[in-house]
Amino acid sequence: MLLDIKQYGDPVLRAESAPLEHLDSDLKNLADNMLETMYAAEGIGLAAPQIGLNIQMVVIDIPEDEEEQDIPETAIVNGETKPVRDLMPLVFVNPVLEPYGNLCPFTEGCLSVRGIRSNVLRPEFVKARLTQLDGSVLEIDCGGLLARCLQHECDHLKGFLFTDRVSSAAKITLAKKLKKLAASR
Ligand code: NI
Repeated sequence: MLLDIKQYGDPVLRAESAPLEHLDSDLKNLADNMLETMYAAEGIGLAAPQIGLNIQMVVIDIPEDEEEQDIPETAIVNGETKPVRDLMPLVFVNPVLEPYGNLCPFTEGCLSVRGIRSNVLRPEFVKARLTQLDGSVLEIDCGGLLARCLQHECDHLKGFLFTDRVSSAAKITLAKKLKKLAASR
């Protein structure tokens, strides 16, 4: 089932999401709907606040053709090196992220901020502790697009959008467009 993607200006995108205490079977259904919605919108990640739920849940699917030569295609998962594509689609709740490394620029967009893309500096690598719907835990150490995507999606759970993370000059440039977006949602 396709879900409604909340747009810039919706207060649900600005609220902090609560951790999930019980992993019940309804979440599997929700995850399937979130993935279907994300694929239909041609996104690579979707966080629960974006479909109007302030819970700590995220889906990610990075397609293979998004990978570039200079981006590592592997991640360390529970101590083992694995191809990133083997992790996809990634569904998790209650993430704990520890970004590290140099700040790197990358052009980001967001399904909740239509028509705007902008450069964002973020640490290049991430150590992440992700709980899957069956309760098992993935300890991931990664770089590349997965590290970028994890940081962007987990920001949503804290009420942050990528437009909060752009340079102050870009904020001035984007201000008018964002105001328009908020008014048109
Ligand atoms: Ni987003």
